[in-house]
This record gives sequence, structure tokens and C-alpha cells, in this order.
Amino acid sequence: MTTRSLYCGPPEDPMDLHGATALVTGANRGIGRHFAVELLRRGAKVYATARRPELVEIPDAEVLRLDITDQASVDAAAAVATDVDVLINNGASTAGGNLVSGELDAIRQVMDSNYYGTLAMIRAFAPVLARNGGGAILNVLSGVAWTTVDGNTAYAAAKSAEWGLTNGVRLELADQGTLVAALVPGLVATETMRDFATNAGIALPDDVMIEPADLVRLALDGLEAGEIEILDRIGAEVKATLSGPPRAFDLAAVARAAMSA
Ligand SMILES: NC(=O)c1ccc[n+]([C@@H]2O[C@H](COP(=O)([O-])OP(=O)(O)OC[C@H]3O[C@@H](n4cnc5c(N)ncnc54)[C@H](OP(=O)(O)O)[C@@H]3O)[C@@H](O)[C@H]2O)c1
Repeated sequence: MTTRSLYCGPPEDPMDLHGATALVTGANRGIGRHFAVELLRRGAKVYATARRPELVEIPDAEVLRLDITDQASVDAAAAVATDVDVLINNGASTAGGNLVSGELDAIRQVMDSNYYGTLAMIRAFAPVLARNGGGAILNVLSGVAWTTVDGNTAYAAAKSAEWGLTNGVRLELADQGTLVAALVPGLVATETMRDFATNAGIALPDDVMIEPADLVRLALDGLEAGEIEILDRIGAEVKATLSGPPRAFDLAAVARAAMSA
């Protein structure tokens, strides 16, 4: 059996986001909004996309309507944003619920956006990136891709699928010079994360969560350095568990550990 490394090596020319043209999905709130703002700060042109573009309030960004689960919407974005060389696949549903007891519609939706939506974006934009010199794709995964989490096992499974997708696409797009990177955060202090913890009855101390602005700086520094897997502290901790028996990500235990540290 032969194996091929998924590490394609750093790009010959380090990626400079100054002067790049980036497209961010789900840029109306949460991590996506921070991506758009930080990319602009670094001197990139930014397409800030959202299902409801009227909610995007980012001066200097080009705003586009984009639902990644709607093929016509994806195709329309690719036809307009022909100068993109950095694709940030951030937007996705995080609300899948549990796989056995949850609503099948929610389970499908979480898979549709995280897996098929991300795939639709990559398939539509791969030729655009190739024409613009290769560029980069950054997929926003999650530490739950490498574990599971009670109450949201469907989301964890969808992120696992997206991780597999990321590895496959990296291999397939290496020859056109596209860097395909994974951002693997643990707990990010967005409203969605805070609501999830509150609904689960868990008080998460602030210092256990990374601020979205800090995560985005880490991600873009990693992208500029040509890294293919960019992990925050919890992302790295979760990856280290892969060599042991499978286990669930225990939000309450993380919170307790943070309180006693
Ligand atoms: N927060 C965390 O702790 C954490 C940890 C690890 C990974 N992540 C990942 O980080 C990314 C952003 O998370 P977040 O915390 O910023 O979530 P968020 O605040 O809930 O934002 C999610 C964004 O995705 C958009 N979206 C959902 N479905 C979409 C679709 N079909 N097409 C286009 N956009 C869509 C949402 O648009 P609407 O406003 O229209 O719903 C929203 O803009 C997600 O991929 C999530 O899995 C988050």
C-alpha cells in the first residue's frame, strides 16, 4: 500500500493577505463577521456573504447574498466573485441535536450545510482559485470533529465528515497550487456557543473560551504561514485524545477544570 502525505508543504511564496481577495461565508455574525473585519484590516478585498445580506454591517466589504445549501445561490456567487483567491468556509448550522432521538430535519440541515454546502462552495470556487493562481481555502471545523458531544452528536458527525472532506480536497487541489487548511477551534465565545452552554445548564468561564477576534488572528496568521491544520488550545487537546479510546467531549468537565485551575 502506498500513502501520500496530506501535508503539501508550505507554499513557495508565503501567502500575503494584503492585496488578496477573500470571500467569507456567514459573515453577518459570529466568527464569520470577525473574519471579514480582520481580512479587511490586513488589506484584503472582502466579499462578506450571508443568507440575509441586509444583516451585514461591515463598511468597505462587498456584500453578497449566499446560502451555501442552495446550488443556484452558490453558482451566482462564483459568477460574480471571479477575483477570489482566498475562500473562508465558515457559515454552517451548529444545531443538529442528537442522532438517534433528534429531529431528522435538523440532522439533515447540519449535514447539508457543514458537509454538502462546504463541498458545493469548494466545487464552485476551485476553478476560480485556479485561475487566480491557486490561493487558499480555509474550512472552519471544530474539535468535535475528533470526538462527540452529548446533545449535539449530529453536529459532531457533520464536522467529522467535513474534516474528511478537507483532507480529500487538499489532496485533489494540490496540483493547482491551492492550500487547503482546517481551522479546528474548541470553544469560541460567540452568542451561539454561549446559548448552547446556557441551554445545557453549564456556566462556562470566559477564560475557557477563545474570543472570536483572537481565533481569527490565529487562523489568518496560520494561513499566511502555509499551515494546513490550525488548532487553538482545546482543538489541540482534543486531537491528542485520538490515540486513545473514543470519548465524548465533556463541556461540564472542561468548565470544572477551568474553574479549579
Ligand atoms: N462558536 C464555537 O464555539 C465554535 C467552535 C468550533 C467551530 N465553530 C464553527 O465556526 C463557524 C461559525 O460558528 P459561530 O459560532 O460563529 O456560529 P453563529 O454565530 O451561529 O454563525 C453561523 C453563521 O453561519 C451562517 N449559516 C448557517 N447556515 C448557512 C447556510 N446554509 N449558508 C450560509 N450561511 C449559513 C449563519 O447565518 P444566519 O445568520 O443566516 O443563520 C451565521 O452567519 C461554524 O462553522 C461553527 O461550526 C464554532
